[in-house]
Amino acid sequence: MKGVILVGGLGTRLMPMTRITNKHLLPVGRFPMVYYPLYNLVEAGVRDIMIVTGGNSPGDFLELLHDGSEFGLDHLTFTYQRGAGGIADALRLARAFVGDDRVLVMLGDNVLGGSIRPFVESYRAQESGAKILLRAVHDPERFGVAEVDGDGQVLSIVEKPEQPASDLAVVGVYMFDQSVWDIVSALKPSARGQLEITDVNNAYLERGQLTSDVLDFDWSDAGTPESLNRAAQVTLDSEFWRSAELPTGQSDG
Ligand code: G1P
Repeated sequence: MKGVILVGGLGTRLMPMTRITNKHLLPVGRFPMVYYPLYNLVEAGVRDIMIVTGGNSPGDFLELLHDGSEFGLDHLTFTYQRGAGGIADALRLARAFVGDDRVLVMLGDNVLGGSIRPFVESYRAQESGAKILLRAVHDPERFGVAEVDGDGQVLSIVEKPEQPASDLAVVGVYMFDQSVWDIVSALKPSARGQLEITDVNNAYLERGQLTSDVLDFDWSDAGTPESLNRAAQVTLDSEFWRSAELPTGQSDG
């Protein structure tokens, strides 16, 4: 399985910090934000990763991460998304890189308090289709929200609903098979002018090809000053991050 980490966008809600750097390079706890999704993917066994950047300071990702070998990667590659076409538009740039493989996509501003390994393993055992991850939150209207039945089966996903059908937010970690490329090709821009990842997930749902798991640890996005602070707290409170061996850069001298 290939990995794709999306670190584009203008980070306008984090101005003025994001005037001079990319949101995903801001500090979260002890490390730059992008370290967390990168490590989550590596720890889940993904060794071949593409970073899709955009907006400010794209070259700084290369300067920070080099060839990814400090993280144990076999291969790290970079590309750049022009404009604000949305998450599914950014994913299109990874098509040739992913090839015939499956892909694990992670939004670079999602900070998880634990390992995604068990979920990735269960997706590897799934014959085809997609998997999403859910987490109960107190402010679901800020996210994609899943309506689920009594058995926990997802019935629908609505992006930033005014009246959420549940408190289950869709986490920015997505696992897709090869049909994702046909699905993204057929997408139409949403009211906010973007190709929405929620529309991709709903397309899998309509095909009866979407599974979901609920996270058993904390999670935060990091797109606003409040959530950036919360993301830092998630890492500081987490045993997973306390014992993770992230590259410190000390050898740079
Ligand atoms: C995006 C997705 C949303 C998801 C969220 C997770 O929202 O569109 O479905 O719940 O990431 O962070 P955005 O960051 O574009 O507001």
